[in-house]
Order: sequence, then structure tokens, then C-alpha cells
Amino acid sequence: MEIFSSPLQLQSKLLQLKRSGKKIGFAPTMGNLHQGHLSLITEAKKRADIVVSSIFVNPMQFGPNEDFDSYPRTLEQDISKLESVGCDFLLTPTIDDIYPLGKEIHTSVEVNRLTDKLCGASRPGHFRGVTTIVNILFNIVQPDLAIFGKKDYQQYQIIKTMVKDLIMPIEIIGAEIVRENNGLAMSSRNGYLTEQQKEDASQLRKVILSTAESIESGKKSITDARTDAIEALTDKGFKVDYFEVVNQTDLEQAKKTDKHLLIAAAAWLGQPRLIDNFEFEVN
Ligand code: PAJ
Repeated sequence: MEIFSSPLQLQSKLLQLKRSGKKIGFAPTMGNLHQGHLSLITEAKKRADIVVSSIFVNPMQFGPNEDFDSYPRTLEQDISKLESVGCDFLLTPTIDDIYPLGKEIHTSVEVNRLTDKLCGASRPGHFRGVTTIVNILFNIVQPDLAIFGKKDYQQYQIIKTMVKDLIMPIEIIGAEIVRENNGLAMSSRNGYLTEQQKEDASQLRKVILSTAESIESGKKSITDARTDAIEALTDKGFKVDYFEVVNQTDLEQAKKTDKHLLIAAAAWLGQPRLIDNFEFEVN
């Protein structure tokens, strides 16, 4: 794997490869890689000739009271993991490379729908930071396709919207969530959990699945199922940020006529805020 810290050097290298007809796949990350991230590289390898990843803990997407400073940074291990799954190029820019005049005055990109609800409601400005960095990274890498995990379902839909609205010639692919044996969605922030909390955290998935089941089977209305889920999670020690049953594409509250639903949830268990979601269909 070739590692570049300079965006311009990587850009010119990849442009040469693109001109020689190579199809480029891209999976951006913030590092501290686990199997969930690596699955994106594996997925990209199936669909592209050259696979590029990036590791950049993006200050623009963290709020003032969030964990930017303490976010786990494990570059050496990350490099070995990327090599083990055959990643071809890695970009590891500095903050100065990306925001030379500071993130406050840097040009930003904002998607005007989908961004104010769910995670956007409790993390104001977060998605502006995400779409801005993803745009910058897309301009450096100029990929034919880019892969995003459905663990961050709202992020995935927002990136799809950005690419469509700005007519960017990039195919956006959603990858399935990779989980621990107990069902907990893998996340760089799981490292903040104690062993006991990791066990307890699996309840988030269990409550989401039983809620989906009771809606699918008609045993409960969406409203009742949601209320019961929040109560169950609170009883199990979670502080629920949101637990919503929404339409998969516009992420608006599910209506009776909607068929393709998503349960999206975020809850604190101790320090970390965990997120998870589940797509399901109703008749
Ligand atoms: P990060 O949290 O490092 O995640 C990078 C990518 O890995 C995202 O597409 C995310 O959805 C995916 N991912 C994380 N955990 C996963 C899991 N358990 N299963 C499948 N995919 C998983 O998301 C970001 O970074 C940033 O916002 C970024 C897009 C890099 C912009 O800074």
C-alpha cells in the first residue's frame, strides 16, 4: 500500500491511473479501524481496480463538547489492517493540509435536507462537517465509486443526496453493518465501553429487532412500539437520544402508507453515544 500525506500528490497519482482506464473505489474513514471499516475495502475491491482509503479525524464534524481530542488514533495498526485486506492507497493528511486557514472560514458544503433530524438534531453542524470533508476527499481521489457503511445510515443518505444534487459522477454504495458476536454494531467508540457495558450494549440491537417485529406483525402501532422501546432501553440503563421509525429514503416519520421502514436509534450507555439502525419492510 502506498501512503500519501499530501492531497495534491495523491490526486496527481490517481489521475494518471484514472487516465489509463483504472476504476477507482474509495472508502473514507477516521481511523481506529475495525472489521466494519475493513468490510468497506473488501467491498470496494470487488467493484474497482484500485482501492483508496483515507484516515482523517475531521475537526469540522465534531461539536465543541465532543471527543475530537480523545478520539482514538492508532495509525500503525490501521496501516497493517488496511494492508491485510489489500488496500492500494491511503491518504493521511494533516489538519493544515485540509483546512490551511482554519475550519471556521473554510468553504463548506451543506445538504439542506435530511440533516436537521436524528443525529443532526443533537449534533448541530455535524453533517456540514461531514459533507465538506467528503467533498474535499472526493475532489482529491475522484473515485468512480465510494462505499459508506449503513451503520451511519443518515450519513449514507446525506452523501447520496449531495452527490445527486451536485451532479457528481460517483456511485455511492451502502455496505451492511458489521457486528460483534453479541449483535453490537462495531464502532471506534466501543473502545470507551467497559466489558460489562459491551455486554449491556447488545440490548440496543435486541430492542430494535423486537420493535421491528411487533410493527411488522401488526402487534403494535408504530407509536406504541416506539414508546415501549424507549421505556425498555431506559430500564436497561440507556439514556435515549432518539428512537424513531422513519421512511428509509427521506428519514421522515413513517406514515401508514410507507412500506420501506427504518428504525434509527441513538443512546448513551455510560460515556459513549451508540447508534444503530435496522431496515425492514411492511405490507
Ligand atoms: P468512521 O466513523 O471512521 O466510519 C468510516 C466508514 O465506516 C463509514 O462509512 C461508516 O459508516 C463505516 N462503518 C463504521 N462502522 C461500521 C460497521 N460496524 N459496519 C459497517 N460499516 C461501518 O463515518 C466517518 O468515519 C466519517 O464521518 C467520514 C465519512 C470518514 C467523514 O469524516
